[in-house]
Amino acid sequence: MVSDPKAEPVLERDPGMPSSTWRMRSDAWEYLRFAVKRLALGDRSEADEALAADSEIHRSLRSLETLEMYWAGFGQRYVTTIGEMLAAGEYQSALDRIGRVVNRLRAVGTSEEAAGDVDPDSDEEFPGDNDSRPRFEVLVVDETTAVDRDTMRAESLRMRSAADAFVYEYVIVPSADDAVAAVLTNPNILACVIRPGFSERTKQTLSRDLRETIELAHAATTNPQTTARNQLASVQRVLGLADTLAALRPELDLYLMAGAHIEELAGAMTKRFRRVFRREDHLELHLSLLRRVSHLYDTPFFSAIQDHARRPVGVFHALPVARGGSVMSSKWIRDLADFYGLNLLLAETSATSGGLDSLLAPVRTLKKAQELAARAYGAKHTFFVTNGTSTANKVVHQALVAPNDVVLVDRNCHKSHHHSMMLTGGRPAYLDAYPLNDFAFYGAVPIERVKQLLLDYRAAGRLDEVRMVTLTNTTFDGIVYDPYRVMSECLAIKPDLVFLWDEAWFAFGAFHPVTRCRTAMASAKLLEQQLQSAAHERAYREQQEILFSEDGTPAPDEVWLRERLIPSPDARVRVYATQSTHKTLTALRQGSMIHVWDQDWVRDAQDPFHEAYMTHTSTSPNYQILSSLDIGRRQVELEGFELVQKQLDLATSLSQAIARHTLLRRTFRVLTAHDLIPEQYRETGRAMPLRDGLSSMWEAWATDEFVVDPSRITIEISRTGVDGDTFKHEHLMDRYGIQVNKTSRNTVLFMTNIGTSRSSVAYLIEVLVKLAERFEEEQAQRDPEQPLPAEIPMPPLPDFSSFAPDYATDGQLPDGDLRAAFFRGQRRGNIEYVLGDDLRARVDAGERPISAGFVTPYPPGFPVLVPGQVVSPEVLAFMQVLDTREIHGYDPLRGYRIIKNAS
Ligand SMILES: Cc1ncc(COP(=O)(O)O)c(C=O)c1O
Repeated sequence: MVSDPKAEPVLERDPGMPSSTWRMRSDAWEYLRFAVKRLALGDRSEADEALAADSEIHRSLRSLETLEMYWAGFGQRYVTTIGEMLAAGEYQSALDRIGRVVNRLRAVGTSEEAAGDVDPDSDEEFPGDNDSRPRFEVLVVDETTAVDRDTMRAESLRMRSAADAFVYEYVIVPSADDAVAAVLTNPNILACVIRPGFSERTKQTLSRDLRETIELAHAATTNPQTTARNQLASVQRVLGLADTLAALRPELDLYLMAGAHIEELAGAMTKRFRRVFRREDHLELHLSLLRRVSHLYDTPFFSAIQDHARRPVGVFHALPVARGGSVMSSKWIRDLADFYGLNLLLAETSATSGGLDSLLAPVRTLKKAQELAARAYGAKHTFFVTNGTSTANKVVHQALVAPNDVVLVDRNCHKSHHHSMMLTGGRPAYLDAYPLNDFAFYGAVPIERVKQLLLDYRAAGRLDEVRMVTLTNTTFDGIVYDPYRVMSECLAIKPDLVFLWDEAWFAFGAFHPVTRCRTAMASAKLLEQQLQSAAHERAYREQQEILFSEDGTPAPDEVWLRERLIPSPDARVRVYATQSTHKTLTALRQGSMIHVWDQDWVRDAQDPFHEAYMTHTSTSPNYQILSSLDIGRRQVELEGFELVQKQLDLATSLSQAIARHTLLRRTFRVLTAHDLIPEQYRETGRAMPLRDGLSSMWEAWATDEFVVDPSRITIEISRTGVDGDTFKHEHLMDRYGIQVNKTSRNTVLFMTNIGTSRSSVAYLIEVLVKLAERFEEEQAQRDPEQPLPAEIPMPPLPDFSSFAPDYATDGQLPDGDLRAAFFRGQRRGNIEYVLGDDLRARVDAGERPISAGFVTPYPPGFPVLVPGQVVSPEVLAFMQVLDTREIHGYDPLRGYRIIKNAS
C-alpha cells in the first residue's frame, strides 16, 4: 500500500456505500489509469511529487483494496501490489496492471462503458477473458489461506469445458460479514458455497454505511425458530448466514460444503440449501452451479417462438402477416419488414401447437414461463397479461368482487379500478389520500383512515359486506405503502379481507433487498410466516385484552386506531398484485403480470379467476409481448439486483447533482420525503434516506408508514416562470428530446428505470443547466405585473364529495352504486349537458347535480367526478382554474354530463 502520512485510517464514507460501489469501483480504476498514466509519462522526481500530492490516487487504492476482495478476478493482493509499485516509483508496471483491470471492466461492463478502447491482447493472467460466454461469480465463505484460494481457482479453471454454456469465477471471503458485504456490493454473484469454517466478523475497514447495512441484514433474519430447534451452534450459524443471504438475494443458489458428518448436516439443513456436498465433490458442485444458472437462463416461451420462426411452415390459418406472407409479396408495404426486421413476421403466428401454447389454457411453454415468473417475483401463481395493468385490474376485480360487495379504494387510483367497479357492480367506498395542495397532487391513504372506515362499517353492522381493499403501491409520484402493515391491521378488523395492490409502477421492487420488503408478494409471504409463529399468537392474545372488554365489547375506536393491530392467527392471507412489467422492467408495451398469494386460491378463487381471465383476455394474445415477459423474467433473475441498484443510485446522484449545482439549485427544487410525506407518517425523519446510505434507506423502509421511491424525482419548477405542461412539451421535449411522463402545475416528475445510463443522467443535467440559464434570462426581462403561473392561487384538490341519495347505499357510509349511475348516464335521454358556469350557478342556488360519468383531467389523472357523485362547489372551483389540455369525460363545448330529473 502507498505510504501516505496524510491518509486517514478508514475509508471515506461515500465510496463505501453499498448502493454506489458499482459506480465508485469503475470510477476509481478509471481515475487510477488516468493519473498513473501521467506519472508514467513524466519525469521520475516530478512524478514522485505528483503522486504524494494526489490524494485521489491514495483514496482510490484504499477503497479498491477493500472492494476488490468482493469481486472475482483481481482481489486485494493485486491492488496492494499496485500500491507497492507506485511507492517504489515503478509507474509503468503499475500502469500495466491498472490497464488490465480497466480493460476487463470495460469488456464486461455495460455497453456504454464497454464503448471505450479495449486492449485486445489484454491479459494472460485471466485467460478466460476473451471467452464470450456469459459469466457469473460464485461466493465461497470460509477461512482460507492464499494457497487454498489459488488452488480453488485453479480447480475451477480446470473444470471448465467447451461444452459449458457459462463460465464462473470464485470470490472467496473469510467471514459472515464479508459474505453479506459481497452479496450487497457484487451483483455478479449468483451462487454461494458456505463452508462451516467461516468466521463471524470482518477484518476489513468498512464504511459506516456498509457496516450498518450488514448489521441490519443479520438482525433481520435472526430467526427464533432456528435457534430453538437446532441446538448445535455450528449448525445455527450456518443456517443463520444462509437465511441472511437468501433474504438479501433470494435468487442466490446456496450450497453447503462440509468436511465431515455431511449426512447429519444434510438432515439439519432443511430446504435452505440446494445441496450439501463434501469438499472433494468439485465436479458435482461445478455441474450444479452451471445447471442452476441454465434454469434461470431458460426461457420456454421465447425459445418456442424462436424455434417456430426457424421452422418451415405453411399457413392455412388466420394472420396474413405470419411468415411475412402479406408483406414480402407486396409492392407497397415492404418497409414494414425493412424497419422491424423479418423475424418479427416470422415470429407472428396464430398457432398454439408445435411448441407454442394457448394463453387461455396453457399447458406447455406458457405455463412453464408463468411458473418461472412466479418464482422470480416470489408469488404462488403468476399470470401474464397482454393488455396492461388496466386489464390486469379488471381481471382481479371480476374474480373477487360480486355485485354489491363493498370495495375500499383510493379515489386517486387508476381509472381501471373505477371501470372495474362499474363492470362488477361492486360498491366503491372511496378513501381520500392526503393531499399535497402545494403541488396539486395526492399522496397516499394513511392507515388510520382505512382502519377508521372499516371500524365504521363494523359499527354500522355492515362489515360483512366489505370484500376487498385496493391501494396503489407505489403511487404515480412514488409514495410507497407498507403493505405488510396495512394488511395486518386491516385483517385484525376483518380477517377474510382480500387485497389488491396495484403495483403498476413497482415491478422492479422485487429485485432489491430493501424495496422488496414493500412489495405485496414479499409482504404476503412474511404475513403468512408471522401468522404461524407462537410469538405472534401470544402478542395477538395480549392485544385482544386491550381491544375487547371481558364481555366482548370492543374498546372505543381511539384504542383501535392507536394500537398497531395484530391479526388473528386464523386470518387468511389473500393478496393479489398487478404490475405493468413494461413500465419498469424489460417487456414490450402492455406486457403485464398478475401475481397471486392466496391461501384460499383453490377453494375460493381459482375458478372465478379463470372465468375473469377468460373474460378479459383476447383469444389472439400478442406472442411478442408474451415472449418479452418471458425473457424479461430471465433478465431480472440474473441481473435484476444489479439493474435496480444502479437505477436507484443514478436517481440519487441526479437529485444530488441538482441540489448541489448553484444555478440548478436556484431554479429547481428536488422534492424530498419532507415535502411529499407529512411528518406524522415518517418516523425516521430523513429527507432522502438513500442519499445518506443504504442503511438509512433500509431503516426508513422498515419503519416509516410511507417512504418515497428514490427512483422517481419530483422537481418543483415554480421559479422557472413556466408551468409543468409547458416545461414538459415546449422545453424538455421539443427543444431537447427529453421525455417525461407526469407534470403538475408546478412540478415535473423524472423517472429513472433500469435502462437509465450514466450518460443519460449527465445529458439531463446538461439540459437542465441550459434551461435554467434561459429561465433566468427570461425572468430578468419579465413584466412584473404579470403573475408567474405558480403564483396563480390554486384551490385545494377536491376530495370525494358523496354519492347522491339515489345511488348511495345507506346515506351514512360512503359506498354507492356507481354501476347503476353509469348505465343510467349512458342513455342520452337521461342526461343533460351543462356548461361549467351554469352548473356553478345551479350549485350556488342549492341544487346538488349528479355526474353521469367519469371526469378525469390529465394531470392530475384521477376522476374528480364519478358516475352518481354529487357535483360539489369544490370540484367546480378546481376544474375552473385547471389548465390541462386533456380532460376525459368533459366536453369543453357542451360542458358536464349531468343526470336529468334526479330525485
Ligand atoms: C397506478 C396505475 N395502475 C394501472 C395503470 C395502467 O397500466 P397499463 O398502462 O399497463 O394498462 C397505470 C398507468 O399509468 C397506473 O398508473
